[in-house]
Amino acid sequence: VGIRFQTAETADFPAIIALMNAAFRGAKGWSLETSYIDGQRTNESLLSEEIGNGAIYLLVKDDQVLQACVSVKALSPHKWYLGALTVSPALQKAGLGRQILEAAEAYVAQRGARTIEITVLNVREALIAWYDRRGYRRTGAKRPFPYGDARFGKPTRDDLEFFVFERNLGQ
Ligand SMILES: CC(C)(COP(=O)(O)OP(=O)(O)OC[C@H]1O[C@@H](n2cnc3c(N)ncnc32)[C@H](O)[C@@H]1OP(=O)(O)O)[C@@H](O)C(=O)NCCC(=O)NCCS
Repeated sequence: VGIRFQTAETADFPAIIALMNAAFRGAKGWSLETSYIDGQRTNESLLSEEIGNGAIYLLVKDDQVLQACVSVKALSPHKWYLGALTVSPALQKAGLGRQILEAAEAYVAQRGARTIEITVLNVREALIAWYDRRGYRRTGAKRPFPYGDARFGKPTRDDLEFFVFERNLGQ
């Protein structure tokens, strides 16, 4: 089954926010963040800021209902950032996440990407293993967690940071 992406419009924001908050910070899912961050994963302000900075939110809908999303952003002509990969908790573990990641990789490759960068919270071992199985390797670089910016939720530990991973397309 091919993935058909739609680009997000402002009218999609409430559904994207609900989907991401449920998948990252809700009650059901194999890769929740709730043991180290309370509260929301994103909101209108953050989404508008990201899109204003060049991020493209790609949506997968079934009969108008949002099932999954992923964001991509060109960092340079050949290097793109991928983030916000989310599958509705009810639909997880059926291969949709893998298919959406592959479709997003194809989307950016078609637009010139040779390398994809992602960032994953240092403590998310199962998710890091999942990305490793998809070819994403740690670069050694780290990025700070935005402590103090409540739009990202309320961390319950003080040692969170992001690890940077890259995948070279075509390998
Ligand atoms: C990460 C996410 C997008 C994956 O979507 P998905 O549709 O569940 O993914 P798939 O069905 O393709 O893959 C499920 C994988 O989880 C693994 N898995 C299932 N249960 C697991 C568990 N309890 N612990 C660890 N891995 C598990 C499966 O083995 C499978 O991996 P494999 O295909 O390499 O064998 C989805 O879980 C999600 O939305 N998570 C919350 C948001 C998030 O954290 N996004 C990533 C941001 S960096």
